[in-house]
Amino acid sequence: MQTSPLKTLIAAVSLMAATHAHAEPQMATGQAMAWQCAPCHGVNGQEFSEAMPPLAGMPVKQFMDAMLAYREGTRPAVIMDRVARGFTDEELNAMAQWFAKQPIKPWEQTTLQESLSAQQAGAQAAGEKQ
Ligand code: HEC
Repeated sequence: MQTSPLKTLIAAVSLMAATHAHAEPQMATGQAMAWQCAPCHGVNGQEFSEAMPPLAGMPVKQFMDAMLAYREGTRPAVIMDRVARGFTDEELNAMAQWFAKQPIKPWEQTTLQESLSAQQAGAQAAGEKQ
């Protein structure tokens, strides 16, 4: 096991994320909210399969059209209708802008640091909302 180096890395990444958290509020918000999508869509929207196109690199309009249709119930969904109802137009737009800028790559190539940074951003946003 590599418990010790891993803990050190987590601490270092957490510190970096905290230091840079307020550099670009708009981007941080989109990234932070996007973390909620990671369990299903992968870190930074990079999970993809035949059934699930990647959110990474998705054009803003395509993302907004999909999310608004889910929220309004005009696009059939198993789960996304409920997910979409949790966000305002501004929040959806912030996520759309952020996802559009993410490079598409196989999720297997997502580094531990990228994953931890995404998680940290999500945890911070959750803390700020309360
Ligand atoms: C519990 C799993 C789950 C979570 C969490 C989730 N999604 Fe989804 N997403 C799905 C599934 C499943 C679909 C396919 C539509 C359906 O059946 O609801 C989908 C489809 C989508 C699509 C449409 C892709 C296309 O076909 O064009 C978008 C956009 C999307 N999700 C965005 C998001 C965003 C943004 C979040 C986070 C705020 C999120 N999803 C969170 C499971 C999830």
